[in-house]
Order: sequence, then C-alpha cells, then structure tokens
Amino acid sequence: MSALIDTVTPQPNTPTEEQIEEAAQRIQRGELVAFPTETVYGLGANALNAEAVARIFAAKGRPATNPVIVHVIDLQAAKALVADWPEVADRLSAAFWPGPLTLVLPRLPIVPPIVTAGGETVAIRVPAHPVALRLLSAAGLPIAAPSANRSSEISPTRAEHVRWSLGHRVETILDGGPTTGGIESTVLSLVGSQPRLLRPGLVTVARIEEVIGPVAFHREPSPGNTSSTQPPAMSPGLMSRHYAPHARLILAADGSEHVRLALRRGDRIGWLRLSGDDSGLSDETSLVCVSMPLHPDEYAARLYDTLHMLDGLGVTIMVADRPPDTADWFAIHDRLTRAATPE
Ligand code: TXA
Ligand code: MG
Repeated sequence: MSALIDTVTPQPNTPTEEQIEEAAQRIQRGELVAFPTETVYGLGANALNAEAVARIFAAKGRPATNPVIVHVIDLQAAKALVADWPEVADRLSAAFWPGPLTLVLPRLPIVPPIVTAGGETVAIRVPAHPVALRLLSAAGLPIAAPSANRSSEISPTRAEHVRWSLGHRVETILDGGPTTGGIESTVLSLVGSQPRLLRPGLVTVARIEEVIGPVAFHREPSPGNTSSTQPPAMSPGLMSRHYAPHARLILAADGSEHVRLALRRGDRIGWLRLSGDDSGLSDETSLVCVSMPLHPDEYAARLYDTLHMLDGLGVTIMVADRPPDTADWFAIHDRLTRAATPE
C-alpha cells in the first residue's frame, strides 16, 4: 500500500510501519510531510536543510519573518540545537516533555537561519503524539513544522483539514485521527533575564510557574478591556489576525443579540454557545448551534474542529459566546480574539 494517505478513503488512524518509513525517507530527501501532533497537525521538513524548510514557507504562504518550531525526539536532540541550556530548561522539559510546551533558546549555527527567521534563537519541542515520535525516530532528524495550514487560516486538527487548506501543496499526510489537544503549544522564551510567555497554549502559565516561578508577559493595552486575559506580546511574525475562519467571527458576552440581528439580515449563522438557554432560536434553519464545553481543555479540543466544521457548512457569520474571564481560559481567549480580528 502507498504511504500517501488518501484522506478521501477512510483509513485506520494509525499509519503502518511502511507508511512511517516512507514518510521518513521523504523528510530525509528534503520533501514535506504533514503529520499529527497532540496539539494540531504540523507541516514538517528536515530542520537542518534550508531548502526543505523553504518549501514549508512556500506551501503555507508564510512570511519569512515568522520563525518555525523544531520538533525533536528527546532532550538530547534538543540540546544538540542550542548554544545554551539553562537549568530552568531541565526542569521544564522534565515536567512537560513530551508535550505542548515550546522553548525558545539560543540557536547553534547548525540550525539554518530560515528556521529562525534570521534570528539568533530557535523554538523547540518534543511532541507527545505517537505518530510524530515514530516519524522523528524513523527520520533520525529534527523536523521543522509549523501548523499545516495556509498562513493565517485555522490550524488543522484532522488530516482532512490539512487537505482542505493545503490541497496539492502537500503530497504526504500521515493520518493519526483527530488531535486531542486542539490548539497550539505554549511558546516560552528562555532567552533574557526572565522566562517570558510568547504565546499562550495548552500548558497554562500557572503550571509553568509551579515549576520555575514567575513568568513575564506583556499585556497589550486594549481600550475598554481591563481583562486579565489579554493576549501577551506577540512572537515575531505572529499577526494579530491569525487562526481565522473564512466566515466573520463575532465574540460577544452574550451571543444571542448578534444571532438575532444576523438572522434578520438573512445570514447563515454558526453559534458557539456556552449556555443552554434556547431563547426561542432553536427552530431557525439558517442557524447552527454548537454547544461548547465548559472546561477550557475540552473547549480547546473542540474549538478549531468546530470552526472548520462551520466553515464547511458555509455559514457566513460565526458568533462565539465569550468564555469566563479567568486565567485557565487565557489561551482560548487569545485564539478567539485573533480569529475575530477583522482583516
Ligand atoms: O502546537 C504547535 O506549536 C504546532 C505543532 C505543529 O507543533 N506548531 C505551531 O507552529 O503552532 P506555528 O508555526 O503555527 O507557530 C509557531 C509559533 C509562532 O508564533 C512563531 O512566531 C513562534 O512559534 N516561534 C517560532 N520560533 C520562534 C523563535 N525563535 N522565537 C520566538 N518565537 C518563535
Ligand atoms: Mg500556525
């Protein structure tokens, strides 16, 4: 059987040894392979081969100013890429690897500048998905992989999302079924005087602080919003409109008013609801209601999948009820806010 997973035909969710081996050979030859991680699907290439990494940027339409994350098999492979490995990195990797925490450290010259967008730091993580680890092991190389979607679109949580977004731009997609994490890893810089959050993600700041003490992050001033869940300073190249569905997304404390208005305008609406109150809207045929989980981890696992599903149904407006304003929802607020940012 071919190692190229045809996502149209139903496939078992665990690639065979032959499929992993062929994908690994493609990585070694400088080609692209999309693969599942525990967060979202990645678009992978040999991280030590600048030409291979350039193919990632071309396929995604990604600006050269946005560096990519390097995935490695273990601690030793991570250390081989960096000029300095501080003691906090030992504690963080012991606590969270394999898993959705990306560490930014000073790079060694072996890491090509294209990976780091010309910068002197490299972002690294050990993914927790068995298929990602099998691929890394078979390839015997670090794999650079941003999320496997066109730049500024929603990250893929299923193999078919990769196909929808990248089409023929990626030949090989290893199908590991839906991802369990659902949103991207936390990105933490260990360069500078204090660990600094660059992107909130599945590992919360509270959990990181339990392991290493205080983490710095900037809150962007936002008029009228004094929330503790403001997005932090951005990673280089991280645009504020990011993770966006095709339909316009409205984030609202109570979505029902927006839904009523949009119905009156004749829009087709997808509503990510957090309360069960029906408000007499349930009979509307142009309204698709999705009852979202009330726990942030479960919400994260459903979020992108739901946005993809609603886009697939052709809704023109999405309305999301704003989740609770507490620290454990920080990463979700970040993604919803970016997805709701107008072009
Ligand atoms: O969960 C994830 O992190 C997924 C899976 C595939 O691992 N990857 C992912 O990659 O989300 P991407 O490229 O979509 O996002 C990478 C983020 C960007 O915000 C980028 O700016 C930041 O990491 N980043 C990468 N290298 C960096 C560096 N050297 N310094 C600062 N930020 C960096
Ligand atoms: Mg991305």
